[in-house]
Amino acid sequence: MIALTTPYLWYATRATGIAAMLLFTLVVCLGALVATRVGGAFIGRFEVNEIHRSISISAVVFLVIHIVTTVLDTFVSTGPISAVIPFTSSYKTLPVSLGTVAFDLILAVWISSMVKVKIKNVTWRFIHWFSWVAWAISLIHAYTTGTDARHGVVFLAVLASTLAGLVALGWRIFARPARAAGRTALSPLAHAPAPTRTTAPSHFPRVPVNQRPVRPSQRGRR
Ligand code: HEM
Repeated sequence: MIALTTPYLWYATRATGIAAMLLFTLVVCLGALVATRVGGAFIGRFEVNEIHRSISISAVVFLVIHIVTTVLDTFVSTGPISAVIPFTSSYKTLPVSLGTVAFDLILAVWISSMVKVKIKNVTWRFIHWFSWVAWAISLIHAYTTGTDARHGVVFLAVLASTLAGLVALGWRIFARPARAAGRTALSPLAHAPAPTRTTAPSHFPRVPVNQRPVRPSQRGRR
């Protein structure tokens, strides 16, 4: 096998890991707002839901690059299998496995959201709770695996992410339990209902144009 190791891959792993961590923190915070149906005149519920969805896509993109650069970098003995099966990486086995578990949980959340209209809402909600578990595990992964995560700016990023997520979780559980119990908004883009007509059109039942009765005001036009 060709040895592929350059500091650039390592920098990319670290940068995309930090970006994914910050974005996932934002995603769970926005998710708490979606679940408790926050929205008003300044920013509507639909917008909050769509921002939550778009940032989750960006977070997954950074996460995939984080995993690909890890696998490509032969300095760390973490292969493609280790991206999905825990305890298969001989490099920092437990810390990397925490990242793997977080990734698997995120995959489950992602797939359940793609088939949301086909599964029961209660099932989707249950799987969506995995996001919190994935987020918490990914923070432990970041702190234990990262080169810089125990000091300096990256440590501050881990700390800020932890605090922000805990505040959002507290809000989700205690602040508006009655609103959170209701059905969460479903992206209208994913589930656009067919338009329904409440009144019959003027030419109902259908009559070919040339056989429709001519109104007095239209006489002489044909
Ligand atoms: C939700 C999932 C994940 C998140 C949010 C995440 C985030 C992070 C963060 C923030 C770091 C610390 C970067 C630094 O300070 O140096 C890191 C390090 C690392 N991650 Fe992940 N990660 C995730 C999943 C994974 C997976 C699945 C793998 C393995 C395939 C992995 C492999 C690594 C490795 C090898 C490092 C160490 C990089 C270094 O040497 O500094 N991560 N990750």
